[in-house]
Amino acid sequence: MLVSGANGAGKTNLLEALHVGTQGFSPRARSDAQIVRFGAESGRVKLSGKRAATGVHVDVTLTPSDSRRARLNGGTLRSAEQLRHELQTLVFTPDRLAVVKGGPAARRAYVDRALGRLFPSRAELAVEYAAAVGQRNAALRRVASGASGTDVLQPWTDAVATLGATLVDARRETLALLAPGFARIAGQLGLAAATAFYDGDPPTVEGLAGRLERDLERGLTGLGPHLHEVRLETGGRELRSYGSQGEQRVAVLALVLAEAEVLAARNGAAPLVLLDDVLSELDGDRRRALGELISGSGQTLVTTTAAAALPVEPAQALVVTPGRVERG
Ligand SMILES: Nc1ncnc2c1ncn2[C@@H]1O[C@H](COP(=O)(O)OP(=O)(O)O)[C@@H](O)[C@H]1O
Ligand SMILES: [Mg+2]
Repeated sequence: MLVSGANGAGKTNLLEALHVGTQGFSPRARSDAQIVRFGAESGRVKLSGKRAATGVHVDVTLTPSDSRRARLNGGTLRSAEQLRHELQTLVFTPDRLAVVKGGPAARRAYVDRALGRLFPSRAELAVEYAAAVGQRNAALRRVASGASGTDVLQPWTDAVATLGATLVDARRETLALLAPGFARIAGQLGLAAATAFYDGDPPTVEGLAGRLERDLERGLTGLGPHLHEVRLETGGRELRSYGSQGEQRVAVLALVLAEAEVLAARNGAAPLVLLDDVLSELDGDRRRALGELISGSGQTLVTTTAAAALPVEPAQALVVTPGRVERG
């Protein structure tokens, strides 16, 4: 589906509403006050659609002073974020370029979100691991200041090693699932020899014991997946340092589309894919290749300022003007 409209017409607002309506939160805004219409007390997103052959009806209410509420097919969900476990939506927005351009933390966070979508039962792993590291760091500082003996460290060292090793496994599995599609799709979009792999080894109790002195000095755990890197490269060169803006954009897009394929194959229903302002900085050949890629899969929404920017006939065209969405 192609969504066109002038700058500021409301294309990103529409895309954001679809994200709120299917995931329960905005991909961009930090607070609900930003997404509720200026001057209004609350906002509401009502969606109807189909997932595989089943009808889906969602109703999300946002009230900045209160928690979000969501109903799915008539039933009230425990929290709006529960929608994430029911419906899957992947999004590309220009600020997602940070996944390639930013520091390692941005890539780890991206892979952890993908991990949560691909392995829902392990979705909390990254948070649990981070909590264990936080507890161990606090214990390190207590020991360093003489407030506690070193024995208080043991449970947290064990937890960091166990949860850390599980997290490394899950991240490796996630990347192993994404890498083949990433390479193929990046290639179709003109980026040859693209690779995605995990760089880091599972932490062990022995490894942590071996650097205890240094960890005590710094009050920080200096080993484990909170310090690992996810390498996105082409021909062995890191895209972060050597990729052009266009190549970096293609890489993020290829990651998103690779995940969409994996999710579709696993769940029997393709996720909703939202691509905001993706066509700028892609040349004609790449736009055509992207158009062909997305026309063969589930529902994808692409926004653009110029409908002619997509050299492929969309299945549906919408035109956005301030306050209105109409068929093109
Ligand atoms: N909470 C809000 N309430 C009403 N209008 C808003 C709100 N937040 C942003 N806007 C307005 O929406 C417009 C931006 O729409 P957007 O979807 O980003 O446009 P684009 O079509 O360029 O993607 C801007 O004019 C902005 O001032
Ligand atoms: Mg926009």
